[in-house]
This record gives sequence, structure tokens and C-alpha cells, in this order.
Amino acid sequence: MARYAAIAGWGSCLPQRVLTNQDLERMVDTSDEWIRQRTGIRERRLLEEGEATSTLAVRAARQALERADVAAFTLDMIIVATSTPDYAFPATACLVQDALGAINAAAFDLQAACSGFLYALSVGANLIRSGAYEHVLVVAAETLSRITNWQDRNTCVLFGDGAGAVVLKATSRPRGLLACTLGAYGAGRDLIIQPAGGSARPATVETVNTGQHYIHMQGNEVFRFAVRMMGQAAQQVIAQAGLTTEEVSLFIPHQANLRIIEALTERLHLPRERVWINVDRFGNMSAATIPVAIAEAAAAGRLHEGDRIVAVAFGAGLTWGAGVIGWGGV
Ligand code: ACO
Repeated sequence: MARYAAIAGWGSCLPQRVLTNQDLERMVDTSDEWIRQRTGIRERRLLEEGEATSTLAVRAARQALERADVAAFTLDMIIVATSTPDYAFPATACLVQDALGAINAAAFDLQAACSGFLYALSVGANLIRSGAYEHVLVVAAETLSRITNWQDRNTCVLFGDGAGAVVLKATSRPRGLLACTLGAYGAGRDLIIQPAGGSARPATVETVNTGQHYIHMQGNEVFRFAVRMMGQAAQQVIAQAGLTTEEVSLFIPHQANLRIIEALTERLHLPRERVWINVDRFGNMSAATIPVAIAEAAAAGRLHEGDRIVAVAFGAGLTWGAGVIGWGGV
């Protein structure tokens, strides 16, 4: 019998603290008008001192488990997609496992930057579809505020913190990730990079003093790559799933910049009412943008049994991914 990995539960966690464009006007040489026109962002959330990526991940995961009616000890695997882990090691997924009491679950982190959720969803779904596991928790959690240079107007207006989670459960019905494409272009590695802190450039006083532990980005080139690759990837999975664009109930693009989303959806001929947009409220939360959008769309009553959702992302690496998700099934 065919085996699929339905999304049985979902959750999200957005920190309470709001940073508006007006706040940023007081921090760097920028304006609310510039930020809204060039990015569509009005405000973003930032975690508090003393919190970490795992704090947000655990809250989102608890919601997802509750909604799925799955006990933590029945989880077989926990995957946390993040490029801002609590520590280089141990994996943030292990901290989540401990906090949830998921004593029977294996746990690891997956790093594919903003494409991380789709990469993790693909791994989780395939672990279930292969017959290896029954229940997999996929979390995408990011605290980019921790690696943002708050004096660099080119980057600090773009990012926000947040987490989203889904519980995947085995089913015989065609639900969950039904078509998927993932890709990478490592030659573009320098376009978005945190240059120091890894084995290539370990932390020294000099790397700290010259801001090498912050996000460095060449925005313009990333923009062009994003529109092209997300467009191709979305078209590929829509065709792979045997769908037409009209049959896509909801399109959830990675939320990096409203202009990227508009260029992409224009290319795909998707009307605005079938595109989920929250970049205005949360900024770019990297891997977390898609599962946060899924949780929001579900809460808004926008997802129905059998719906076909298309999600697409791009990020540092460079990486990209797209997937068709069949909603419901449990
Ligand atoms: N306020 C005011 N002016 C600014 C700001 C700001 N916050 N930031 C940049 N500028 C200035 C620049 O200095 C530049 O001035 P100059 O012409 O005098 O040099 C001017 O605005 C135009 O800059 P551009 O870079 O050409 O502006 P652009 O329209 O490309 O918008 C942006 C920049 C928003 C970064 C856009 O390129 C973008 O969104 N790129 C994609 C980035 C992205 O999605 N990254 C995601 C990856 S994140 C991850 O994987 C962790």
C-alpha cells in the first residue's frame, strides 16, 4: 500500500517584542518609506535576552504536537532546520528533544538557510514514506537578530525571529509532501554568508572587531537569483504533481521581500488572493517563514481537506526548494 506523510499538526511561535520601521529610523540612516517600498516590511519580531532559537522551537513544537494529538514520546525523529542554532553543537534538535520529553526520538539539525524547512520536510516525509518511521517532528526556528549587524542598514531592516513546526504522520492517503524539488548552487556561497565563527575563520578578536560574525549579503544579486530559481522550482513541482496553476489552492513563497514575491507570482500568473504574505509583519525569518505561514493560513481557515499548497524558498548556499503539499488526511 502507498505510504504518505500527512501534516497532522502545526504550530508557530513569534516573539512578543516588535521592532517597527520607525524604531529602525532611530538606529540607522533609513526611513519607513524606503523599507516599505523596497521590501514591503513594516515590522518584525525579536526574541528577548536570555531566550534562544530552542526557546521558540519548543513552543512551536508543543503546539504542533497538541494539534496532532501525538504524544512527545511517540516521536521517532526530530529535525530542526536552522542556521542560527543555540550552539555549534550539540544540535538544537537535541535541546528540543529534551524539553519535549521525546525520549524515543533521534534528533539532528539541518542547515539549508532559508530553504531549510523544505529540505527538512522532504527528509522527514521520506523517512516516513520509506517505512522507517511513523512520526517525525519538523521544526524551523531562527533568531537572525543574533547575527544581524544593527549598524548595517543594508541588512538590519530585513530580518526577524520566529519558529514554525509540523508533525508528520504516516497515512495511506495521498497527503503531505506529494512533489518536491531541492537544489543548490555552491558557487554562490559568498552572496549570503556569515564569514567567521566556523573552521574556515575561527573566532578571534580581529574577526569580532571587524564584524565578521554578522550576516553579509549582496542583496541585488540574491534578488535576481531568488526570482529565477523560485519560479523554475515552483513550475517544476506543479508539473510533477500533475497540477495546473489554477488548481493550486494556496501559494506560500519564502518571505524575504514583497518585491521578490510580486515578481515571482507575476511570472507564475498567480492572483494575489491565492498567495500568503506576512513579510510585512514578520520580515524574513529565514527557514521559519513557510511553517509560520502554514500555521497562520490554517488558523485563518484557508486550508481545507485535499487542498494543494505550493511552497517555495531560496536562501544562502545558495539553496532552493519547492514542494506541493496535500492538506489534511488525518
Ligand atoms: N535604508 C535606506 N537606504 C538603503 C537601505 C536602507 N535600509 N539599505 C540600502 N540602502 C541604499 C543602498 O545603500 C543603496 O544606496 P546607493 O545607491 O547610494 O549605494 C540604495 O539604497 C539601493 O540599494 P540596492 O541594494 O540597490 O537596493 P535594492 O532595491 O536591491 O534593495 C534589498 C535592497 C532590499 C536588500 C534587496 O536587494 C533584497 O531584498 N534582496 C534580497 C535579499 C534576500 O532576500 N536575502 C535573503 C537571504 S537571507 C538568508 O538566507 C539568511
